[in-house]
Amino acid sequence: MKIAVIGTGYVGLVTGTCLAETGNDVICVDIDAEKVEKMKQGVVPIYEPHLDVLFERNIKAGRLEFTTSLDEGLAHGDIIFLALPTPEDEDGSADLSYVLKVSEDIGKKIDNYKVIVDKSTVPVGTAEKVRAVIAQNATTDFDVVSNPEFLREGYAVDDFLKPERIVIGSSSERATRLMQKLYSPFVRSGNPIITMDEKSAELTKYAANSFLATKITFMNEIANYCEKVGADVDKVRVGMGTDSRIGKRFLFPGIGYGGSCFPKDVKALLHAGTLVDYDFKILDSVVEINQIQKQILIPKITAHFGTDLSGKKIAIWGLSFKPETDDIREAPAIDIMNSLLDLGAELTVFDPEAMPNIRKQFGDKLNYANGMYDTLEGADALVICTEWSIFRSPSFSRVKELMKSHVIFDGRNIYQVDEMANEGFKYVSIGRNQAN
Ligand code: UDX
Repeated sequence: MKIAVIGTGYVGLVTGTCLAETGNDVICVDIDAEKVEKMKQGVVPIYEPHLDVLFERNIKAGRLEFTTSLDEGLAHGDIIFLALPTPEDEDGSADLSYVLKVSEDIGKKIDNYKVIVDKSTVPVGTAEKVRAVIAQNATTDFDVVSNPEFLREGYAVDDFLKPERIVIGSSSERATRLMQKLYSPFVRSGNPIITMDEKSAELTKYAANSFLATKITFMNEIANYCEKVGADVDKVRVGMGTDSRIGKRFLFPGIGYGGSCFPKDVKALLHAGTLVDYDFKILDSVVEINQIQKQILIPKITAHFGTDLSGKKIAIWGLSFKPETDDIREAPAIDIMNSLLDLGAELTVFDPEAMPNIRKQFGDKLNYANGMYDTLEGADALVICTEWSIFRSPSFSRVKELMKSHVIFDGRNIYQVDEMANEGFKYVSIGRNQAN
């Protein structure tokens, strides 16, 4: 099939590349000429495991092309994916200006039947708006479909190629059939393509992300309570998660959720509720608790050192919002580092992928180490913000040799409490320290 993908951010790029991988002819359109030039030369503009291999293979095969020309994309694609940003407005709502502007252009330019697919996470009613905007100018038949993505950063290629489900929201049989055909190679294992109306599809994305954010937040509260009463959240987590109604995943407490989706989507659904006089009390609490959770290590650190951290050298391991990505959007590490800097600490940081992004934001406020051990020279404490695999089993003897005092604050619970006691560390983690 002939596909155009408008917007080569994270979602657009993964969508375009993976659709080319199953034999479709894909043109990706972006207004950023420099980025398009680089992509034409085979440079993947984001860090996402496995994407580079697919990218190169499909460019070579001539199935994946890039252009700055929307006209070219629209002339090529029978199915046009909108993978445009929907940033958070000041009031928490999703800003649809990019989506609606491109829709206007689509209306003016298409001259044969097209299916326009909303891939961006958009509020309920957006497909209707997109349809209305296109219809203002269109001289031909078209359909608008809502097809939310459920890609996790770091696993996006796998999630796209082997999805647990595909959601297609459409009121047109013709468009639904076309979308089912497009996605059939991805669900050979028997996973479902779920069809529904556009509004339900749009809400499915927000509901799924808000639910997962709530699940994590609930566990963060249980962890905080564990500390008060001397219970161990790791044991509680396993005890709960084996109930198949609850499930084992997304029960890991820590320093709060971050990233480009959960924070934005929870706030967008909360805001959407207010527009129809619905007060999502649970989501209001989720936002508030997560904000507190992102700073949960600070009182633990000041309980040990006092509130004046001037002269204290602190090492930070992990800066991205989660492992396997260079994305630092809403990363808890940012909140933690800002608080530690405010209290006067000197910070030396390391992350396997996110250092360039952090450097852009923090400049010379931080010391940037070349490796994880380089952060530890003379350190008074180590703070772990992201659970990258390489941090999971360091040489503790080397860590001790380098650090001035043997104190670790672990925001991701990557070590065992008794193991750390045996190694001779003061080890503070989340929800696992006894009350007395
Ligand atoms: C998420 C959704 O999983 C995906 O389906 C959607 O399309 C986009 O948003 P992503 O933001 O890439 O994906 O990351 P995810 O792996 O879901 O983690 C989100 C945040 O929750 C991270 O900050 C992570 O550290 C945190 N988290 C996750 C926890 O704190 N505990 C957990 O148990 C799981």
